[in-house]
Amino acid sequence: MKIDPANFNRKDLHGLFVSAVIPRPIAFVSTLGRDGVFNLAAFSFYNLFCLKPAIVALGIMSKRDGQEKDTLRNIEFSKDFVINVVPETLAEVVNQASAEYASDVDEFKEVGLTPVKAHLVKAPMVAESPVNMECKLVQILEFGESPTGSHVVMGEVLLVHVRDDLWTGDHIDLLRYKAVGRLGEDLYCRISDQFEMKPYKRII
Ligand SMILES: Cc1cc2nc3c(=O)[nH]c(=O)nc-3n(C[C@H](O)[C@H](O)[C@H](O)COP(=O)(O)O)c2cc1C
Repeated sequence: MKIDPANFNRKDLHGLFVSAVIPRPIAFVSTLGRDGVFNLAAFSFYNLFCLKPAIVALGIMSKRDGQEKDTLRNIEFSKDFVINVVPETLAEVVNQASAEYASDVDEFKEVGLTPVKAHLVKAPMVAESPVNMECKLVQILEFGESPTGSHVVMGEVLLVHVRDDLWTGDHIDLLRYKAVGRLGEDLYCRISDQFEMKPYKRII
């Protein structure tokens, strides 16, 4: 079967691509709004694109009514954000915080999470998350139009906070950190089913 995405509406495009591009990491993004209100939302159109500078990007679609999401508005205002990782223990509350709340609602208070002052950025960090990355805005690219278009927010990671017991000396202990990933529909995945493959060393 060949599918031409040009003929698909938003719902069908979403169904196609979020089941084709899997598993996706989840960025639980905390931001600060113009009025001083803290905001939280999850984004799985998210990844790392460069090590130095450490560049991450988020794909932020519009709200159902076509308005910009609070995360985007806040990043445009404060020029920074924090990415908090999502272990299994936080999955439920991340989902709850990602519901559509009015812009003046402090989503930390709403879902019972603890904001912690970041070192270099204005956005708060989520205390309950074991890894937090302080990011400054680098660039925002705009593609298409609502409801299928997206703002791609690129940020540079300035500082990474890793809970002490998770740091092995050269990496974060994946099995203890237990991050969850996003699949299609309403499905998520765990990282407990892994396999190892050494890279080929081909000598021509
Ligand atoms: C696991 C998960 C992943 C999500 N990924 C995205 C995404 O990549 N892009 C997006 O626009 N919305 C995504 N959403 C929906 C937003 O989190 C949701 O629209 C949220 O209400 C936005 O909040 P805000 O207006 O406070 O920014 C995701 C939601 C969940 C639960």
